Amino acid sequence: MDRLVGRNARICHILDQLDCLHAPEPWPETGGVSKIRFAGTRESFLGHRLAARLDAEIKMDTDFVFARIPEIHFGPGKLSQLPKLIGRKGSRVLLVTGSSSFQHSAHFESLTQALKQDDIEYFHAAVSGEPSPAFVDQNVDRYRDERLDWVIGIGGGSAVDAGKAISAMLLQDGSVAACLEGMETKKHDGRKVSFIAVPTSSGTGSEATKNAVLSEIGNRGYKSSLRHDSFVPDIALVDPELMLSCPPQVTAACGLDALTQLLESYVSTKASPMTDALALSGLEHVAKGFIAAFENGQTDIEARSHMAYAALLSGLTLANAGLGVVHGFASPIGGYHAIPHGVVCGTLLGEATRITIETLFSDPDKNQRALEKYARAGILLSGKRSISLNYDCDLLIQTLREWIELTGIPRLRQLNLGEADFPKILDKTSSKNSPAPLNRAQLTAILAARL
Ligand SMILES: [Fe+2]
Repeated sequence: MDRLVGRNARICHILDQLDCLHAPEPWPETGGVSKIRFAGTRESFLGHRLAARLDAEIKMDTDFVFARIPEIHFGPGKLSQLPKLIGRKGSRVLLVTGSSSFQHSAHFESLTQALKQDDIEYFHAAVSGEPSPAFVDQNVDRYRDERLDWVIGIGGGSAVDAGKAISAMLLQDGSVAACLEGMETKKHDGRKVSFIAVPTSSGTGSEATKNAVLSEIGNRGYKSSLRHDSFVPDIALVDPELMLSCPPQVTAACGLDALTQLLESYVSTKASPMTDALALSGLEHVAKGFIAAFENGQTDIEARSHMAYAALLSGLTLANAGLGVVHGFASPIGGYHAIPHGVVCGTLLGEATRITIETLFSDPDKNQRALEKYARAGILLSGKRSISLNYDCDLLIQTLREWIELTGIPRLRQLNLGEADFPKILDKTSSKNSPAPLNRAQLTAILAARL
């Protein structure tokens, strides 16, 4: 009883600070913040803020490490700043782009013109699909003696990761494969050529992470990371104008990847108050921009900005809080099959979230914190008012399903995956830092539900 009185006193104090004139009453019998009922939108919003404040108090018994972040230049038109940023330390650069869209765009044309005007000598490498160790090795061999001042990765996650890996290997001997996680025969010492990340899609958040994902597709395929604290890009230049030309289907898949990263790092067992704050901010921006970027992405710069910001934050949160079971699936599926990462995440996100929440509800007291986080995400993404823990978690599952349906993310069968492929995928799938580690039967159920 004393505990509840103390909690209510704290709530009153916070409501005072929030200028809430109509404090709800009575307090819920459980003392659970998420179960407070509010009558209207403003009250619901205040309740949300209230919960956030209480969580901040509750969670400060933790300790954490937050890795370095890039120097960030964010906003429409920022690409024009690139020559000036390059000029800070030299004039020889390698541009790494994707093989199609960006290098045939007007942006690429005007960038190369600007580089020439500023007497910046540039080389150009284009990666097709997700980068392989062989692609990185070939380009390191080609450019090792060019005395490069910068490597610049411009494009989707593949181009940024390719550039990041090349910059990481230019001052090293031997193949990048020797430094990859899980097959490491050599420890990378962190020396690299300075790297600028310029994303043209809003998805992987690679512009803010310390790893580059390399893939070998096929029967013996794998996805593995080249990872070191020093691989965090020196500069992340995020220009939402570059995303206007991203097609709707790619926009949807990339957006669902960013959303998955935010949600998985938010509920992760490694989350901290700092990653929570960033993840919540990212989820708010996904709520504002996801559908609009899919439906009106060719012109809606505001929607593109929301999603670019959310993706950037997702890179920061995943690098510092880790990920969950959807990304546990993404590595083996992406290694065995040439399916874009965002599509894998998008197709599995709804069902993986449903089964994870179901599992957490088997012991709601023990899992209260994770469930409240899922509930908060449900309120944020749906824009509806909070009613109960159960209801709010259902809202999340429902909203994810609606978005996946609306954007036409393919099911596994449409991606040429069948039940026969499951055992091999499941052998390599882990729950990562999910708050509810899932068993093989539960993992199978997620895949089966998306066949
Ligand atoms: Fe991802």
